[in-house]
Amino acid sequence: MTRITVVGSGFVGMTCAQKCAEQELAEEVVLIDIIEGKPQGIALDLNQAGAVEGYQCRVRGTNEPKDTHGSDLFIVTAGLPRKPGMDRSDLLDVNGKIVNSVADYIQAGSPDTRVIVITNPLDTMVYQMAHRLGFPKERVLGMAGVLDSARMSYFISETLGGGVADIRCMVLGGHGDSMVPMPNFSTVDGVSITALLPEADIEAINHRTRNGGAEIVNLLKTGSAYYAPAAAAVAMAKAIVRDEKRLLPCAAWLNGQYGLKDIYLGVPCVLGARGVERVVELELDESGMKLLHKSAEAIRKDLKILREKQLLPAA
Ligand code: LAC
Repeated sequence: MTRITVVGSGFVGMTCAQKCAEQELAEEVVLIDIIEGKPQGIALDLNQAGAVEGYQCRVRGTNEPKDTHGSDLFIVTAGLPRKPGMDRSDLLDVNGKIVNSVADYIQAGSPDTRVIVITNPLDTMVYQMAHRLGFPKERVLGMAGVLDSARMSYFISETLGGGVADIRCMVLGGHGDSMVPMPNFSTVDGVSITALLPEADIEAINHRTRNGGAEIVNLLKTGSAYYAPAAAAVAMAKAIVRDEKRLLPCAAWLNGQYGLKDIYLGVPCVLGARGVERVVELELDESGMKLLHKSAEAIRKDLKILREKQLLPAA
């Protein structure tokens, strides 16, 4: 039996569980949260929706880590969003502790699993998860590039006034202000957007992509995006459980690629049953490479804070 566990039953987590069930990615989807009743209620609701839609997947809501044991894949969404008055390092602290506690029960009960992390700040949380688990690094990865690229694709379709189906984008680097949209590797049916749009439009698209999450936070007032983040994570989950060997940008462990080491960063990856089966090294121009390294520096600053807070051992 295939089992996927979604950790955290907030909007992103519950939407991931829904999409996994609807797409029948596993026989069982476990939804776990520390809030009593919430994952159980969502599970019951999703199972009843299954009776209408006919999907063959059981959703189990639980507060018990042992119910996740034997999972083939985890999608980790648990963590707090930033609230007014909190700074970035407070979020690192709170979510760092949550990630460590989740890692401990993943390690205890699902030693062969693959783990997709969504918790923010993404690039540091996936590093921490991988470190705490001690699993082969290719089995631990972060969701960000698929989401950021989807946002970029949508903005291009808005600018061109056409559909989004033929648009493929590439956004690399960290999931934050330092992310690096790659217009050179973004195409409409194979044609680079640099041939289709003036530079000013491309710059505006890049800017809006970098602010893609914040734009939604500002509109919603409370909470942040969840449909596209969940869609992105579930596309990655599908590529792994179905061994699709899809090329998708993900936060992956770098061991020398792009001249970077000992860091998780958004790069194009081939996803299959082993997790990140390959990191694809694009030939970046000087400015692209510079931006990627700058993004890595921003992540290293957060990793340093985690070490100072002793959530990560000293380097
Ligand atoms: C966003 C969150 C998922 O970008 O980080 O909307």
